[in-house]
Amino acid sequence: MGPYLRIRWFYMLSVMVFTCVADDVRLKRNTNANCEPRFTTIENHSACLNRSAQATQAGVTEQEKVDIVNLHNLLRSQVNPPATNMMKMSWDNDVALVAQKWAENCDIKHDGNYQRRIPARFSSGQNLAYGGAKLTWNSTVNLWHSEVSKFTYGGTSNSGVGHYTQVVWSSSIKVGCGYAYCSTSNTHYYVCNYSPGGNSVGAMPYKNGTSCQDCPSKCKNNLCDCNGLICENDGVMHIDKCTCSCSLGRPYYVGDTCSMNCSALTPDIPWCTNTITPSGCSKYSNVPYTCPNMCGVCNYDFNAQPLTITTEATTTTEKATTSKETTSTTTTTTLNLLNSRVSSSDTVTSGPMTSSVTPSSSSGTGPDRSRTLSIIFLALLVFWNFFSL
Ligand SMILES: *[C@@H]1O[C@H](CO)[C@@H](O)[C@H](O)[C@H]1NC(C)=O
Ligand SMILES: *[C@@H]1O[C@H](CO)[C@@H](O)[C@H](O)[C@H]1NC(C)=O
Ligand SMILES: *[C@@H]1O[C@H](CO)[C@@H](O)[C@H](O)[C@H]1NC(C)=O
Ligand SMILES: *[C@@H]1O[C@H](CO)[C@@H](O)[C@H](O)[C@H]1NC(C)=O
Ligand SMILES: *[C@@H]1O[C@H](CO)[C@@H](O)[C@H](O)[C@H]1NC(C)=O
Repeated sequence: MGPYLRIRWFYMLSVMVFTCVADDVRLKRNTNANCEPRFTTIENHSACLNRSAQATQAGVTEQEKVDIVNLHNLLRSQVNPPATNMMKMSWDNDVALVAQKWAENCDIKHDGNYQRRIPARFSSGQNLAYGGAKLTWNSTVNLWHSEVSKFTYGGTSNSGVGHYTQVVWSSSIKVGCGYAYCSTSNTHYYVCNYSPGGNSVGAMPYKNGTSCQDCPSKCKNNLCDCNGLICENDGVMHIDKCTCSCSLGRPYYVGDTCSMNCSALTPDIPWCTNTITPSGCSKYSNVPYTCPNMCGVCNYDFNAQPLTITTEATTTTEKATTSKETTSTTTTTTLNLLNSRVSSSDTVTSGPMTSSVTPSSSSGTGPDRSRTLSIIFLALLVFWNFFSL
């Protein structure tokens, strides 16, 4: 970061992200969408966006991918206080595909959580950075991480640290990033998505204590290293054995990673239709895997040929811009960071066999009902997120 780089910070609270999603949203198939069939089950999924004509450069090189993963892992291994449960992070092509599609759409804001989730796998959080200067990925990740100076472990009033907590969120172990140069606004746009989503406001990003305390037999360089294993569909990872317990014992979560077997779907538990309604599929990160039928996560043709998505690699030559909107000069650059955090309202707790969990008050329908649910489950959620790390 050069001496002239001026940094302006912007935070879009997840609350804002969620209020953008109308409560009566129903999931519709994307028709005629330019994406792989598995993404078409979610209307407006970011993976189905077409590249904006103004995205004159796009993509992340193989070397940049290595840099991104290595730097995240270095920063994760050095957290202070030390982490008992910091997982080693690895690259995920699905996560990266969605991040890249969002970057080259040149819309400088967060996409909705439901627009970036990987259907039948997991949810994703997001860090953004954008500005008139081309940055290396090392500097971009370091900028997100630099919020560590405002972070107090165990503090109750941490704010403006969402990029940092996402970078070191112990259970978000897959990263995938995208880049585009958006010529109309002379903006270099950096997007990283992180899965499974976490980064809940108010919760700590990892458990403090002795480094690797929770994974002594899998410890490498202060990180719990499960060789890229990921537990999908809310499967619980046992980090000292590197195994997954699949979510709620449902028969359609199978294999070592709890992947979804769409041929083995059983009817959704009653909670899905009694309590949640389809709007919950886009509102709450856990509803799609708890209620796969209602949310249509398998509702596509598995035999269809996936489209080939190609992006060109970033070139080192920057195109000149003639845009009048540009105010940056060679010595003053505005860099903006955005971070999407999961608010307490992003997850609802369904309990082990959940039909018995109902809100204590039936306060109507629509937004009010959802809000009531969010409040009811707030305490549980914070507890759950913290202790399930
Ligand atoms: C999808 O995008 C269209 C066009 O922007 C919008 O009208 C519609 O509400 C969006 N649907 C969802 C589920 O966000
Ligand atoms: C994207 O491009 C495809 C093929 O050119 C087109 O059929 C589709 O309607 C476009 N989608 C959007 C959202 O513009
Ligand atoms: C990023 O940082 C790593 C580790 O310091 C270094 O090896 C790599 O060359 C850097 N990449 C760039 C593009 O500067
Ligand atoms: C973890 O952090 C909390 C809050 O700051 C502190 O009270 C506790 O002593 C720490 N535990 C360990 C094992 O460091
Ligand atoms: C998926 O489900 C089908 C139908 O129940 C079953 O025949 C098949 O073996 C399952 N596949 C896996 C990988 O479990």
